[in-house]
Amino acid sequence: MSIISNDINKAVAILNSEDIVAIPTETVYGLAGNIYSEKAIRKIFEVKQRPLFNPLIVHLYSVKQLNEIVTNIPEKAQKLAEAFWPGSLTLVLKKNEAIPDLITAGKDTVAVRIPNHPVTLQLLKALDFPLAAPSANPFNRISPTQALHVEQYFKNSIQMVLEGGSCTSGIESTIIGFEGEEAVLYRLGAISLEDIETVIGNIIVKNKSELAPAAPGMLAKHYSPTTKTFLVDDVLHFIENNHFKNIGVLQFKDSLENEFIAHLEVLSKSGNLNEAASNLYHAMHTLDALNLDAIIIQKMPNYGLGKSMNDRLERAAN
Ligand code: TXA
Ligand code: MG
Repeated sequence: MSIISNDINKAVAILNSEDIVAIPTETVYGLAGNIYSEKAIRKIFEVKQRPLFNPLIVHLYSVKQLNEIVTNIPEKAQKLAEAFWPGSLTLVLKKNEAIPDLITAGKDTVAVRIPNHPVTLQLLKALDFPLAAPSANPFNRISPTQALHVEQYFKNSIQMVLEGGSCTSGIESTIIGFEGEEAVLYRLGAISLEDIETVIGNIIVKNKSELAPAAPGMLAKHYSPTTKTFLVDDVLHFIENNHFKNIGVLQFKDSLENEFIAHLEVLSKSGNLNEAASNLYHAMHTLDALNLDAIIIQKMPNYGLGKSMNDRLERAAN
């Protein structure tokens, strides 16, 4: 029997009983629980097999709730929140004492965002507490952009996936923290670096720091298919110079032909980066399910959301 359901009341009941539910957002599906329930939060880490040192994002429905969560909002954070919430921006701010250490991995900061998805906003309004939610994939695997992806991962370990359709952005939120008043980008994501800089000017980018990553989800290997995966400039050239014979190819906009290509995914025939981002993870899930020898991915144009996609693809590739 499917665990996918439209029933918001059922999701409320499960969350009120300190259990967890997968929820849709405009970026990717999340695995959600009451931020104040140790039982629910521990289950999120367990089900995902996520290390406890990797903190979670707190999801709100209104900026009115922000004072309950954080103690200080720098001016640039204020501007970004006004420009992009509800939406795919996560702000890392000084946490309020009431936020459990389990959520923040003991840090004195907490990550917070208001997702832009009507179903989840309605759910959050119906609850007396915010929801902590990491992406609803096992640790290191491809994030889910459809309810079915989540069901395939977790049908034996969670009660319910709240149906919200395909995620419209399709790539995780952009994460920004602060060092003093200075904004620092920890994760490229669904809001492009260019759009962020339009609002607050130049920003320091630290998303490649791997030894003691400020945002531990930025580890070098992440978002990985189980099939061998390569990220290349020229797909045909790569095929000619390697021995793979049963290949899946992921292209940005152009079609390709070669005798060894068993399956081709084209992200946006018109070359639209938004469309490409919204199709990216589904295409990777599709290719990874085909038992291919290799998945070969063409690098995206390196600007706007193409830059965010390349960031994920570099971590997905071996
Ligand atoms: O789009 C998204 O952000 C999705 C949806 C479900 O909201 N969530 C998501 O969560 O991608 P997750 O757990 O897969 O990634 C959250 C990232 C991790 O890299 C984590 O290390 C970072 O946020 N993070 C959380 N709290 C932090 C903190 N206090 N300081 C720095 N980074 C933090
Ligand atoms: Mg994740």
